[in-house]
Amino acid sequence: MTSFEKQIKPITLTVGTTVNEKSAPGTVYGRDELVEKLWDDIKSSSISLIGERRTGKTWVLRLAQALKPAQAETFWFDAEKVHSTIEFVRRLNQELHAKGLMSKNVARVFSSLARRIGFGLEGIKGTIEIKNPDEWPLFLQSTIGEFVQYAGNRNAVLMIDELPLCLDSIASTQGHAAASKVLDELRALRMAHPSLRMVFCGSLGLHIVLKKLEDEGYKGQPTNDLITFDVPPLNEHDSLFFAAGLIFGEKIGYSHLEQVSLAVAQAGSQIPYYIQHIVKYMKNQQPFDYTPEDVAAIPEKLFEASGDPARFRHHDKRLDVYYPEDIVEKARSVLDVLSLEPDGLDDGTLLNLVKHNPKTLTIDPEFLQEVVRILQDDHYIEKSGGRWKFKVDIIRRWWAFARGEMN
Ligand SMILES: Nc1ncnc2c1ncn2[C@@H]1O[C@H](COP(=O)(O)OP(=O)(O)O)[C@@H](O)[C@H]1O
Ligand SMILES: [Mg+2]
Repeated sequence: MTSFEKQIKPITLTVGTTVNEKSAPGTVYGRDELVEKLWDDIKSSSISLIGERRTGKTWVLRLAQALKPAQAETFWFDAEKVHSTIEFVRRLNQELHAKGLMSKNVARVFSSLARRIGFGLEGIKGTIEIKNPDEWPLFLQSTIGEFVQYAGNRNAVLMIDELPLCLDSIASTQGHAAASKVLDELRALRMAHPSLRMVFCGSLGLHIVLKKLEDEGYKGQPTNDLITFDVPPLNEHDSLFFAAGLIFGEKIGYSHLEQVSLAVAQAGSQIPYYIQHIVKYMKNQQPFDYTPEDVAAIPEKLFEASGDPARFRHHDKRLDVYYPEDIVEKARSVLDVLSLEPDGLDDGTLLNLVKHNPKTLTIDPEFLQEVVRILQDDHYIEKSGGRWKFKVDIIRRWWAFARGEMN
């Protein structure tokens, strides 16, 4: 056994599983320091933790709950399946109640509130049917107020996962004003309760939702008190040890553990999700002794695999679903061009190449800038050393594989 091998602890694959605050500490790899930093930020501000899909944001939040400091109480709310304002408050209330995170006098407060504003109380414990749907802000205020009161002199930290998706859905079912109102109400609550913190999380840029709201005349700045927090890939050391742990734990054959693990970490852009998918692929091909060269070819195999196991196609499809209509084709065109450039392009060359595409022939530089900014804020691309490039190289490779060569 080499000295590297002696340091490796076996890890099992967790693709497709979820964690909660109890299981997170043994399962979420390499994020302790990041979580410490997050808590340091939460001390002074609410947070926007928005980033590329599958970079491990939700897992970071679950670990943050597990490692919460004594001065904080947390509640994690998954807003992905919420499509209306009423559902938003009702679920929030139900789940806070089920977790025992509301102050003891909740029932009394709610029944008097219900009497006052004409709610009817339903049979399910802790939930209230709102007769007049327009009253949802009052209900939200009292629900959050109860959570803040429960936390006492600690910070009440409300983590809302996939909030932008929920807002997008509310905007399309109830209209843009309703979605704006949710953001305004949440902001007003942060102003009203100094000890309340919110952590907005999600894979869809809040700015995309806000842009649509602004296009409809909304002028508020409901998130300008939040500080952004980035969830980066794992660092070199952790991604190497994570890959090695999985190879070891899943009993995968290798020529040289350290080199093969390094190849896995690199091919997966140091992101745990892609590292797991590569190792899963290796496991399915057993028995096989992998070399670093074999590993470097695995992403292409995943791109081709039927059923798209690592869900790459989503990165393309989501443009149609969430982007303002006038931007979709232009954004695609920018990504097509950049996908063929691992080292990136400066503004001028990018504009020229985008102009070569018949669909974006007449794009003017200012509009291109706007499109590029949206893609940047949505975590597809980044600028460094004056050059635009894909943020996650495995996604660039997929894009080039699936679309880039068509143009
Ligand atoms: N720190 C980690 N350690 C191990 N696996 C992880 C880690 N972070 C993410 N994963 C894997 O990646 C998947 C996606 O992570 P998730 O937090 O759901 O991403 P996001 O919320 O950013 O879309 C998880 O289901 C898990 O399999
Ligand atoms: Mg998530």
